[in-house]
Amino acid sequence: MHPSLKAFRSVCETVLTETSAPSRIVRRLAPHMHSLAKAAERILEPAHRRGDPDGYARNLIFSGDNGTLSLFTLVWAPGQWTPIHDHGTWGIVGVVEGVLEEQSFLRVDAQADLDRHDGIELSPGGLVLLPPGGVSTFVPDPDHIHETGVAREREPTLSLHLYGRVLNDFHVYDRIAGTRERMRVAYRDT
Ligand SMILES: [Fe+2]
Repeated sequence: MHPSLKAFRSVCETVLTETSAPSRIVRRLAPHMHSLAKAAERILEPAHRRGDPDGYARNLIFSGDNGTLSLFTLVWAPGQWTPIHDHGTWGIVGVVEGVLEEQSFLRVDAQADLDRHDGIELSPGGLVLLPPGGVSTFVPDPDHIHETGVAREREPTLSLHLYGRVLNDFHVYDRIAGTRERMRVAYRDT
C-alpha cells in the first residue's frame, strides 16, 4: 500500500480511538480526505481504477480491524448512479476526478423515527456537485438518504469513500412502493 494510504489509515484509526461520535469523526477526518483526494492521482493503483460498463464499480482499498472502517474507490461512467440508499454509519466522500452529484432525500412520513421498512415517504432534498478535491460527509441517526452518480453529459468520475464499517450492504429505497430493503452491495478487493 502507498505510504500516503498507510498514513491516512493510521490517522483514521487514531481518531477512532479518541472519539466514537460520528459528527466528531467526520469533522476531524474530512480535511485528511481532502488532502488524500487531491494527491490520489499519483497514489492510486490500476486496480483502484477498475470500472464496470454495467454499473458503478466499488474497489476496496483497505478495511480496518474489527470491521470499523473501510475505504473504497468508486468508478463512475457518465450516467451511472446508485439506487436511493442509506449507510447506517458515518461516511466521508472525496472526489479525485470528474464531478460527482449527490441528491439527498428527506423522510416526510410520520413514522420516520420507527425502524419500519414500509410506509416510507421520501421528498427530494438538496443537490451537491462535488468537483475534484471536493469533500462531503454524512452521519447516521437519522440516516442520510441519497443517490449518488454522474450526469450523462459529464466525464468519467473517480471518488474515494470512507465509511465507519465494512460497507457490503445498505438499505435501498423504492420511492414508488414506499419501502426499503437491506441489500448486498458488491465490491472488488484490490
Ligand atoms: Fe451513499
